[in-house]
Amino acid sequence: MVVIDSLQELRRWRAGATDVGLVPTMGCLHEGHLSLVRRAREECGQVVVTLFVNPTQFGPNEDFAQYPRNLERDRTLCEQEGADVLFAPDASEIYPPGDQTRVIPGDLASGLCGAHRPGHFQGVLTVVLKLFNLAQPDKAFFGLKDYQQYRAIQQMASDFFLSVEVVGCPIVREPDGLAMSSRNIYLSAEERMAALSLSGAIFRAQAACADGERGAEKLRQIALSRIQEEPLVKLQYLEIVDPDTLQPIGGIEEKGLIALAAHVGKTRLIDNGFIIP
Ligand code: PAJ
Repeated sequence: MVVIDSLQELRRWRAGATDVGLVPTMGCLHEGHLSLVRRAREECGQVVVTLFVNPTQFGPNEDFAQYPRNLERDRTLCEQEGADVLFAPDASEIYPPGDQTRVIPGDLASGLCGAHRPGHFQGVLTVVLKLFNLAQPDKAFFGLKDYQQYRAIQQMASDFFLSVEVVGCPIVREPDGLAMSSRNIYLSAEERMAALSLSGAIFRAQAACADGERGAEKLRQIALSRIQEEPLVKLQYLEIVDPDTLQPIGGIEEKGLIALAAHVGKTRLIDNGFIIP
């Protein structure tokens, strides 16, 4: 595996590569990230993992400065998973002096997390477009854990006629159900317990649907009841939406998506899951 930090070197590598799979990350890698690397390894001839904590997707009061960084550990993990390239540029490479153009997201990015993190998806789409242009992947792999991000990136690829295939990969969870996240390391033991209510809420709604409940508001209330059991959890949103449009739905006909975000102590976590009748 080669570690590359300059655009020029990445371009040179790309000129001699074919069948490239891209896995964009912000590092502090866990099994969720590594599942994407494995999938890319299975489906592509060469795999590029990018590690870049993207400043433009963090709000002024968010955790950009504290975001966990551990290049050496991440390098070892990527190497073990058989990645060909770890691209870990400085912010000054991705946003050089004079840089000013941004991707404006559409409706897919306006609700859910987009409503609570102004500018977030603009930052995500901008950096992902830059990474797509640099690595020119045939396929790019994203986790369904960040479902809205995945849909917005897929839409951007379609709207801008990008030739990359955007592949969504299943959420990897801890054995007790908590969705893996680089931010889980911020949680105290007590918060870690309380955070189980996020996945618990999703599982409760899924179980109710399996028992025959189809009303979205009823399922929403069932999920909410689990969150309300935990005083440490401050819910930001919990919605049942159409997985394609991300617009709220009245009932589960084909497939719904339950999506939520909450603060557990100071840590903001998200989770989601399909509700399939
Ligand atoms: P990051 O949070 O590091 O996540 C990188 C990729 O890993 C994303 O596609 C995310 O959905 C996926 N991922 C994270 N936790 C996962 C889990 N538990 N199971 C499956 N996949 C998981 O998302 C970002 O970085 C950034 O916004 C980025 C796309 C890199 C742009 O800066």
